[in-house]
Amino acid sequence: MAQRIEFSQTGGPEVLQLVETSVAAPGAGEVCVRHHAVGLNFIDIYFRTGLYPAPSLPSGLGTEAAGVVEAVGEGVEHLAVGDRVAYAQGPLGAYAEERVIAADHVVALPDGVTFETAAAAMLKGLTVQYLLRQTYPLQGGETILFHAAAGGVGSIACQWARALGVKLIGTVSSPEKAALAERNGAWATIDYTREDVVERVRELTAGEMCDVVYDSVGKDTWETSLDCLRKRGLMVSFGNASGPVEGVNIGILNQKGALYVTRPSLNGYADTRERLESMCIDLFAMLESGEVAIDIGQRFPLADAGKAQQALADRQTTGSTILLP
Ligand SMILES: NC(=O)c1ccc[n+]([C@@H]2O[C@H](COP(=O)([O-])OP(=O)(O)OC[C@H]3O[C@@H](n4cnc5c(N)ncnc54)[C@H](OP(=O)(O)O)[C@@H]3O)[C@@H](O)[C@H]2O)c1
Repeated sequence: MAQRIEFSQTGGPEVLQLVETSVAAPGAGEVCVRHHAVGLNFIDIYFRTGLYPAPSLPSGLGTEAAGVVEAVGEGVEHLAVGDRVAYAQGPLGAYAEERVIAADHVVALPDGVTFETAAAAMLKGLTVQYLLRQTYPLQGGETILFHAAAGGVGSIACQWARALGVKLIGTVSSPEKAALAERNGAWATIDYTREDVVERVRELTAGEMCDVVYDSVGKDTWETSLDCLRKRGLMVSFGNASGPVEGVNIGILNQKGALYVTRPSLNGYADTRERLESMCIDLFAMLESGEVAIDIGQRFPLADAGKAQQALADRQTTGSTILLP
């Protein structure tokens, strides 16, 4: 038996319940992983509230964790019992002491990457990998705008952009978050709750504006983000922290300067084992070299998953948050 978080209906954090479940033996192509740390991500809130529908209810929650392989199903070649591993994709159910998952999603951890770092960095770090290295392959010298720069994804993006020689302008909601983003390598910060973001970007870039805007805030920032781009710049809309962007008239891209727009996801980039492995090599190299250090701002017991989600939704967290089984 193992404890896990489940929800039977969508709603507020109170729908999350800690339950005892039996863990089946892994089938062909699967492994059983005992979790040492579980990653908390904004997408977990989208599933809990129903913005993203869970495939069925009751449902587990969470897609990211790190731990040790307890059992291996038939045909699994790349993992063995006792291996230190992590994953960031797959069916909901990572908020658990132990679970069975397709081995294709699971990667072995290098010795230098702890369970807590892996749980805090797999989903967010692989996201930054594709955003900065694939969606727009930054070369160094570009200026980018990155919203929520003191959050989990944002804290990694600030450091990775600095390592690439990219000027990252980060938006934040408080002076404390601005200081954190700047310590992580943001070239400049803007408090988007108090300042005119477009005017500040114009000043900071001497009117050139940004090559790319990375927007995970969604509804509240969509139009401002487009106004921060240079002509033919790229708008990367990759999240909905304030609600989804809806009802877009495509003509706006023409009016604002022949802009490009994309709406990517980790599953759209790490969609084959080969691509996942190559993205992990890049991420683990950044972690092991120390160019990206994972800031775990909050740790919660697994049983307090609801409280942890509320803190994330209320903008009270900085860096990554993990749950400890
Ligand atoms: N597409 C993908 O592949 C992918 C993968 C991972 C994450 N994401 C997205 O990236 C974003 C960041 O994820 P994360 O887990 O690292 O979370 P996070 O950045 O640690 O937390 C979200 C942050 O968004 C900002 N925010 C702005 N308006 C908000 C609002 N109305 N409500 C709540 N927060 C608001 C807050 O920072 P301030 O207080 O500084 O404004 C908050 O701390 C999320 O939107 C997530 O869905 C997308």
